[in-house]
Amino acid sequence: MSIDKTIKDIQTSFNKEFSTIASASALEEIRVKFLGRKGLVNDLFEMFNQLPNAEKPKYGKSINILKTDITQAIEDKQASFQENTVTSSIDLSLPGIQLKRGSIHPLEAITSEIKSIFQSIGFSIAYGPEIDDEYHNFEALNVPKHHPARDMQDTYYIDPETVLRTHTSNVQIHLMEEQEPPLRHICVGRVFRNEAVSYKSYCLFNQVEGLVVNETTSFAQMKGTIEYFITELFGADTKMRFRPSYFPFTEPSAEVDIWNDKLQQWMEIMGCGMVNPKVFNNVGYPSNIKGYAFGMGIERIAMIKYGINDIRLFYQNDQRFLEQF
Ligand code: PHE
Repeated sequence: MSIDKTIKDIQTSFNKEFSTIASASALEEIRVKFLGRKGLVNDLFEMFNQLPNAEKPKYGKSINILKTDITQAIEDKQASFQENTVTSSIDLSLPGIQLKRGSIHPLEAITSEIKSIFQSIGFSIAYGPEIDDEYHNFEALNVPKHHPARDMQDTYYIDPETVLRTHTSNVQIHLMEEQEPPLRHICVGRVFRNEAVSYKSYCLFNQVEGLVVNETTSFAQMKGTIEYFITELFGADTKMRFRPSYFPFTEPSAEVDIWNDKLQQWMEIMGCGMVNPKVFNNVGYPSNIKGYAFGMGIERIAMIKYGINDIRLFYQNDQRFLEQF
C-alpha cells in the first residue's frame, strides 16, 4: 500500500474515532493507538525509513504534520476534560436551597369553609360595597342619626354622608332593593371600625352576614340554620346558647355563644334575629314578608377554632404565623 494512502487512512480514522470521545479514558486509548510506541504513527515512520531517499522529503513533511495535528487535538481534549472535572465537581451532600411554599391564609381558609357550609344548605353568595352611604349602613337598618345605637359601632366617615361600612348588614339593604323575595344569601366581606387596636379588636375585620326572606320563615328556622352551621364548623358536640339581645334591625334579637372547653367560658360568636318590619318597610317589601338575619366576625371564629389569641396576627404577614396553616 502506498504511504500516501496510509497517511490519509490514518488521518480519516483518527478524525472519526476522535469525534466520538466522551471520556478521559477513551481519549487515552486513542492516544495509545495513534501516538504510542507501537502506534499507527510510529508504524508510518518505519514505512518512511524504507522509502528511497529521493521520496523522503515529500512524505516526511506530511507525516510530521499528521503527528502534530493528532498530538495537538489530543492535548486540547485532555485539557478540556480537566477543566470539566474542576467545574462540574458537584458536592451532592451539600444542603439544597430551601424553596418556600406559600400557604392559604387562615382567614381565607375559614372563609371558604364557612361559605361552603352555607352553600350546602342553599345559600347564595352576595357582595356589597365597602364604602357606602349612611343610609345603607345605618338609616335603612333602623339606626337613625343621633340614635344611641350608632355608638355600638365607631364609624370611619369619608365625608358627612359616606362611611366605611361598619358591618355587612348594608348588603341586606342592597339585596332587598335589587331583588324581590324570596332571598337566601350570605354576604362576606371587610368591615371597618374606629376602635382602639388591641389583641381583641382591630380597625378592620371580616364578617359573614346571612339573610333569609320569604313568607313563612321563623325564629325556629333561624335557630336550626345556625345550629347546623355551628355543628358543621366546630363539631357535633359543640355546646351553644341563644341569649336575648338588641339590634335595631332585628326584632326579636339574640346573640349566640359557644362553649370553649379549653378556656372554660362562653364565647360570643354572632348576632341574629328576625328582620325588623321597619327594615322591610324601608325597602318597600309587603307586610306579609318575614325574614331572619345573622352576622358574625370571621377573625373571631378563626381565633376560637385555631386557638389564636391576638387578632392583629391576621394582618401582620408574619411568616412564622402564616406557615402554621
Ligand atoms: N350587624 C351586626 C354586627 O355587626 C350583626 C348582626 C347581623 C346582628 C345581622 C343581627 C343580624 O354586630
